Amino acid sequence: MPFDTRSGRLDPDAVIDRIGPRTRWIAITAASNALGTMPDIATVIAGAHERGVRVFVDGVHLVPHAPVDLATLGCDVFVTSPYKWYGPHAGIMWIAPDLRDSIEPYKVRPASDHAPERWETGTPSFENIAAIDAAADFLLDEGIDRIAAAESASFATLLDGLLADPTVTVLGPHDLVDRTPTVSFNVAGHHPDAVAHHLASQRVAVWSGNYYAVETMAALGLTATGAIRAGLSAYTDADDVSRLLDGLRTLDR
Ligand SMILES: Cc1ncc(COP(=O)(O)O)c(C=O)c1O
Repeated sequence: MPFDTRSGRLDPDAVIDRIGPRTRWIAITAASNALGTMPDIATVIAGAHERGVRVFVDGVHLVPHAPVDLATLGCDVFVTSPYKWYGPHAGIMWIAPDLRDSIEPYKVRPASDHAPERWETGTPSFENIAAIDAAADFLLDEGIDRIAAAESASFATLLDGLLADPTVTVLGPHDLVDRTPTVSFNVAGHHPDAVAHHLASQRVAVWSGNYYAVETMAALGLTATGAIRAGLSAYTDADDVSRLLDGLRTLDR
């Protein structure tokens, strides 16, 4: 789906309008890992279900930054990756109860025909599962609302600092509404990789390139270079944000 390249926003009604007679599923992200935008997935899910279409939600970038209530959301499938919320490398797929046994996944024949086992690999990764449990406890103990509030406060400083620099182009929204604390940007006259290397020398970890958001970068006309991406997490504080902004000021001009 095309999105508004100026605001970085996706029109949910345009997604629903695209539903045709052959549409069975819509796959949509709950938050863009490049622009931080959070599409209005509730509207998409409601419109899709009215038309008998299922919705698969990629919650990988959203879950570390915002509370998610699957019962209210009402999607059919939701995925999240625990390594994005301080856990181990693994994937989690939540499937609506009415689909768990009715969709036939690729599996070895002797594996159980019933969920959840029919969706899992032969021998579960027990040590990973124990660590996922611990990471989930960490999130619940810290409180995702508290984490989100702290991240938003630091992010406001970061976004203001980037927008105030005339050599910086901020991609996607320039406001704090319906977004995660993640921003992509470019600095005039500097390749994104060079900026990332310079910031690394200041002990600031950012990523450069497309971060797998290939279509987003193509829509923004940035296939060749991509952009720099900075994101905040539960352990990022105001000092880290200052170091990033100071690091940009010490780029060769
Ligand atoms: C929005 C989004 N979806 C999916 C993925 C892929 O998740 P995984 O690395 O667990 O395959 C990522 C990883 O960065 C992501 O940011």
